[in-house]
Order: sequence, then structure tokens, then C-alpha cells
Amino acid sequence: MIKRGEYLATAADCGACHTAPGGKAFAGGLPIPTPLGTIYSTNITPSADLGIGRYTEQDFSRALRRGVRRDGANLYPAMPYTSYAKFTEEDAHALYLYFTQAVTAVEQRPPPTRLPFPMNIRASMIAWNLLFLDSATFVPDPRQSPEWNRGAYLVQGAAHCGTCHTPRGFLMQEESSRALSGAQVGPWYAPNITSDPVSGIGSWTKDELVAYLRTGHLSGRAQAAGSMGEAVEDSFQHLAAADLDAIATYVRTVPAVRDPADGISRFSAGEMFSELAELRGRDGIRSDSDSDPSGAMLFQGNCASCHSAEGQGSKDGYYPSLFSNSATGANNAANLIATILYGVNRTTSDGQAFMPGFGGRSTDANALSDRHIVALGNYVLTHYGSAGTAITEQQVAEGRQGGPSSPLLAIVRGSMAAGAVVVFLGIAFFIARRRKVST
Ligand code: HEC
Ligand code: HEC
Ligand code: HEC
Repeated sequence: MIKRGEYLATAADCGACHTAPGGKAFAGGLPIPTPLGTIYSTNITPSADLGIGRYTEQDFSRALRRGVRRDGANLYPAMPYTSYAKFTEEDAHALYLYFTQAVTAVEQRPPPTRLPFPMNIRASMIAWNLLFLDSATFVPDPRQSPEWNRGAYLVQGAAHCGTCHTPRGFLMQEESSRALSGAQVGPWYAPNITSDPVSGIGSWTKDELVAYLRTGHLSGRAQAAGSMGEAVEDSFQHLAAADLDAIATYVRTVPAVRDPADGISRFSAGEMFSELAELRGRDGIRSDSDSDPSGAMLFQGNCASCHSAEGQGSKDGYYPSLFSNSATGANNAANLIATILYGVNRTTSDGQAFMPGFGGRSTDANALSDRHIVALGNYVLTHYGSAGTAITEQQVAEGRQGGPSSPLLAIVRGSMAAGAVVVFLGIAFFIARRRKVST
């Protein structure tokens, strides 16, 4: 049971959020930027005072599957309890045994979460849960195979693919009618992975999807960076072959969602192209300290050494081609911008896939300005990818800040204010009537 709990904790990637970079396992403290402010994960080691040492199995199951803490306060849905609600009683039990008996207690208090008003009122989540928490555990569909049902259980529950890939509605709820059809996660975009052949991954075979989940790399199609790179590294590559097969079997049956703006599949856009000869012919490739380098110059100076002069990547496929590539072929250029800013760093049993970022962090290569990234990005899109897409300085600036911010807080604040006015008027009316009655 403890072993099973450990496997489920890996499949559910509890450590991705509950372990801070360089921190002790499950001791919490990872800052999770949300459009509403930073939420810190908590310590879920068995420390009695600072972790979940005092949680009974019921308390644990309620936190995991209903999003309610031991003290009765509601958790924010940054903890994916809407997915974990699918966990069976037995799997929740296995997780409880693992966390309370096999994880080492860490006496460490993570920073507290302080969201701005009105989101600091945790009870506001009660109304949200009433609207959006489907608290039913997973029910197998008897018309489907056991493999499909295992896949559905993992995708909807532990592996919580929808947390990133399903678009969110007005109140940040997952829109199940458009499940897995693509959503923004911080600076990255988790693409449409429904069975649609144009907007989704309907053109992938089952084995290709399994290979991508196990290695994060599929030549001529896609590479996993950002949060997908982490999910592959920490979780998916460790799953049993039968479970990866089951996940792929299920994902391939998710109803197709087509974006009418998509003309061709993002995996087939673009072709080999080079302006190198012309650049050489003129005045040589100038350095990017040049005040106004062209996209072609920036490409030859920063990218061609790995992705090669014509963008076709290396023969062994370690450096991917920039055409027939999800990040450049999509109408949404978020992943191209995020790749240039943050690079790729993913380690699996296949080895390390590493591309430096150009965003100006201390570990980065050459720092490129927003303006240079626009010139470079548009050059890459025009020649290697989705030629009709153009990026702007504002998009690059948003990518640097961690993704576009949501209008939700403004709306929530506005409606709270409106609500407060309504309540105030109601009270005033009530008092006025009482006065009338008593006089
Ligand atoms: C996507 C990020 C994420 C993942 C994955 C995740 N958690 Fe959490 N979890 C959080 C955050 C953030 C909080 C604190 C939320 C808050 O303060 O409202 C939390 C809170 C909790 C709590 C409540 C502890 C307390 O008293 O504050 C428990 C228990 C918990 N998580 C268990 C788990 C387990 C077990 C898993 C894996 C099955 C898991 N979490 C996976 C983000 C995550
Ligand atoms: C923590 C967020 C997150 C989770 C969880 C997640 N993904 Fe992803 N996924 C992403 C992001 C972001 C990308 C884009 C990565 C890139 O291009 O570098 C992506 C890319 C992909 C792609 C490649 C699509 C393309 O066009 O490039 C597939 C396939 C995929 N994910 C499948 C899955 C499946 C199946 C699951 C669940 C088993 C899953 N993902 C869970 C964030 C996530
Ligand atoms: C040092 C070598 C190197 C340099 C320089 C480099 N890349 Fe990469 N690039 C890589 C590697 C390695 C990968 C990831 C391969 C994998 O995931 O298996 C990658 C992946 C990518 C991807 C796909 C990322 C995704 O998440 O889908 C894009 C797009 C990309 N690079 C564009 C660029 C651009 C534009 C430049 C120039 C600013 C550049 N690269 C410079 C090595 C490099």
C-alpha cells in the first residue's frame, strides 16, 4: 500500500508543487504565481506542527478530494483537488499511508499566502466549490475497455492533464465541454490535445503520444518545456508502460475541438529557409550589440549554431527542426516567446535536453531585449512556422512577467463592491422600514 501510495504521488506529481526548488521533499514553500497573486504550497510532510502530522485519514482525504484543510478552511484551487476528487477511497488511503509513514518530517514553515481582498476570504471558495467541484469519485464506463477506463481515471484524476490543458471560464473553472482544448499556463500555452486532426493531436499515433509523454520529445512535432517539461521529468517518465498506454488510449478519444482560426495543423507549418548567403554577401553577420539587427541577423547570431542555418536542426534530432514544430507552427506564439525567454531544460532517462534562455536571467545566454525578441520571433514565424502570426512587444513583456494577467480580480473586486452596495441598500431599506413600523 505504501509503494502504491508512492507511485500515485509520482503520477499525481505532488512534489511539483509541494517541493520548492532546492528544498526538502514535500516541505512546501513553492511560490505559485496566479493571476490573483502568489499562492505558496504548504508543508505536507508528517511534521505535527508545521505539516500534516495531525491529519487523520478523513482530514487528509477531505483536503485531497474536497479542498478543505484540517482546520476547516478552504484551500485555493491552486491545489488541484477538483481533479483529485476522482481518486478512489483505496487510492486516497494508499496516499495517506505513504505521506504519514514513508515521507520524512521536515520542521519548516513555508511563507504564508496573502491574496488581496476579496480573495483572502477563503470561505468565498465554498460558493465556487458549489458551482464547480464535481465531488464524485471516478466511475468506470462499462461500455469502454479496462485500459480506456484506467486512462480516463489517470488523466482526469492523478495526472490532472486538464489543470493545464483545459481552458478556464469566467471564474477560473475548467470548462469541461471544451476539455483539453488548450489553455494558458503562466508564460506557456498548453496546446489543444483533443483528437482533432487540425487543432489537436489527432494526427499522432498512440505510440507517438506515449513516446512524447515518456521523453518529452517527438521529432518533427513537439518538445516539452516549461511546466510540461517538469511534468514529464518528475512524473510521466516514471509511469508504468501500461499506464502510459492507457493514458494515450483515453486521450485519443477525447472529443475533437476545432479552432476555426486554424487552417493547417501546427505540426506541418513552415519549411527550410536561410538568408545566410545573402547576409554574408552584404556586410557579414553583425553582432547583436548592433543597435538595430534584423531578425535574420539575430537568428544567425543566436539560434543557428544549434538549430542550424536553415532551421532544420541536427541530424540526430537532438536539436529540433524549427519547422514542423508545435511551438512555431501554432497561431498562438506564446510557446515560441517562452522558449526564447526561458529556454528548455528537461532531464529524462534519454538524457538532458538543454537550450539556454535569452531572457536575461543569470544562467541565460545573451540577453535579448523585447524589441529584439519581436524581430527574431517574427522572423522565425514567417520563415519556419505560422506565417500569418505576428508577435508584439507587449506579448514579450507579458511572457517576461509570467503570462498575461487576468481581468478576474478587477471583476471580482467590482462585483464585491456592487454586492456590498446592494447589501448596504438592503440594510438601509430594512432599517428605514423598521423605523416606520416603530414610529
Ligand atoms: C499544482 C500544484 C499542487 C499539486 C500538484 C498538489 N498540491 Fe497540494 N496544495 C497545493 C497548494 C498551493 C496548497 C495550499 C493551498 C492554500 O493555501 O489554499 C496545497 C495544500 C495541500 C494540503 C493541505 C495542507 C495544509 O494543511 O495546508 C494537502 C494535504 C495537500 N495539498 C496534499 C497534496 C497531495 C497528497 C498531492 C498529490 C496527490 C498534492 N497536494 C498535489 C498545490 C498542489
Ligand atoms: C503543469 C501543466 C501541464 C500538465 C499537468 C500537462 N501538460 Fe501537457 N503541456 C503543457 C504545456 C505548457 C505544453 C507545451 C510545452 C512546450 O511546447 O514546450 C504541453 C504540451 C503537451 C503536448 C504536446 C502538444 C504540442 O502541440 O506541443 C502533449 C501531447 C501533452 N502536453 C499531453 C499532456 C497529457 C496527456 C497530460 C496528462 C497526462 C499533460 N499533457 C499534462 C502543460 C501541461
Ligand atoms: C545551445 C543550443 C541551442 C540554441 C543556441 C538554441 N536552441 Fe532552441 N532548442 C535547443 C534544444 C536542445 C531544444 C529542445 C530539444 C528537446 O526538447 O528535445 C530546443 C528547442 C527549441 C524550440 C521548441 C521548444 C518547445 O518547447 O516546443 C524552439 C521553438 C526553439 N528551440 C527556438 C530557438 C530559437 C528561436 C533560438 C535562438 C534565440 C534557439 N532556439 C537557440 C537548443 C538550442
